[in-house]
Amino acid sequence: MIFHQIATERGCQSYLVGCPDSCAAVVIDPDIHELERYLTLAAQSGLRIRYLLDTHTHADHFSAADELAAELSVPVIMHKNSPSPYVDMAVDDGEIVKVGKLSLNILHTPGHTADSMCVHIEDRVFTGDTLLIGGTGRTDLPTGDAGCLFDSLFHKLLRLDPETRVYPAHIYSDRAFTTIGAEIADNKRLQVTDRDKFIAMMQSLNLTMPEHLSEALRTNLSGSKTVEQMLGAAAQRIAFMSQEEILRRIQSGAPDITLLDVRERESYEQGHIPGAILIPRGQLELRVDALLPDPTARIVVYCQYGKVSTLATATLREMGFTRAIAMAQGMESWLEKGYPTSTSL
Ligand SMILES: [Fe+2]
Repeated sequence: MIFHQIATERGCQSYLVGCPDSCAAVVIDPDIHELERYLTLAAQSGLRIRYLLDTHTHADHFSAADELAAELSVPVIMHKNSPSPYVDMAVDDGEIVKVGKLSLNILHTPGHTADSMCVHIEDRVFTGDTLLIGGTGRTDLPTGDAGCLFDSLFHKLLRLDPETRVYPAHIYSDRAFTTIGAEIADNKRLQVTDRDKFIAMMQSLNLTMPEHLSEALRTNLSGSKTVEQMLGAAAQRIAFMSQEEILRRIQSGAPDITLLDVRERESYEQGHIPGAILIPRGQLELRVDALLPDPTARIVVYCQYGKVSTLATATLREMGFTRAIAMAQGMESWLEKGYPTSTSL
C-alpha cells in the first residue's frame, strides 16, 4: 500500500491511499485547501486518483470532494445515508470497494453522524470522527446519536484486531496514529462500557459549537460555495485601485472616476469619500440603471472592509459595467490614514 497522511494546521487529517501494482488511489476525507497537495503527492508517487471518499458529512470543515471530483472526473463515495447530492457511489455496511488490488471494507458506524463509516484496508482502519486518539467524535451535532455511537464502537469497530492501526479524521496531538488495542486500553471514553452511562457521558460534554458549523453544513450538504470561495471567485474577475491612487485622482480636481459607496445610508451619512454616490449593496441591481446611466463609466466601488465591494464590483461587471473596479481595502482603512471625508449629501 502506498500511504500518505495529509494534516492541516487545524488538525484535520486526510489520506491518500494507493495500490502499488495498479497505481490506482483513493483520497479519504479530502479537504478543500489541500487539492494541489493531493495531486502533487499522487503524481510523485506514480498514482492516479480513482475515487474520493468522505467518511461522513463534515460539520467543521469544507469537503473538497465535489470540486476535486469535477476536476478529476472521478466518483465520490459516501455512505448511503449521506444527504449530499454529490455522491456517485453510495455504499453500506459490509460492502467492499476495489481500488486496484486494495480492498476498502466499509463499516457503517453511525453515532457522530447517521452517515458515518469507517474504512478498513489491510492493517489499518480510517475511522473518520467515530474514533479519535484518546476520544470519540461528538454526538451533539445534526444526526448525531450517542447510543448509536456506543453500538458502532463496542459491537463493531473495537472488535477489529487490536493491532489494527487507527487513522482518524482529526488528530489533536503530535501522534500520527493509534491502534484499536491502545484505544481500548487508554481511551477514557471507552472505559465507560455501560450503554446508558456512555450516553449520559456523551450528553454531558457541553462542547462549544465548531467554528463555521452552519457554513460547513450548508456547503457540504448542498455542494454550494463557501463565502471564501465566492469572494475569491469575485476577486479574480475584477481589478482594484489603491486608496493612494484614488486620493490622487480626487485631489487632481478633475477625477476621471465615479466613486460608488455600497454601504448602508447611515454609514454614508456619517462620512463618505468626497464626491461618492450612494447605492447600498442590497439595492444595487434595482437602482443601478437610474443612478449610473453610463455603463462605460469608470466606477470605483468601496464599502467598509473591502469584501462587499468586491462582490458588488463583480455584480456590476456581470451587468455590463465593464470598467467597474473595487477600491483596495475599505472605508475603515481610508479613515485610519486620515484621508478626507465628506458628510454632504
Ligand atoms: Fe466530523
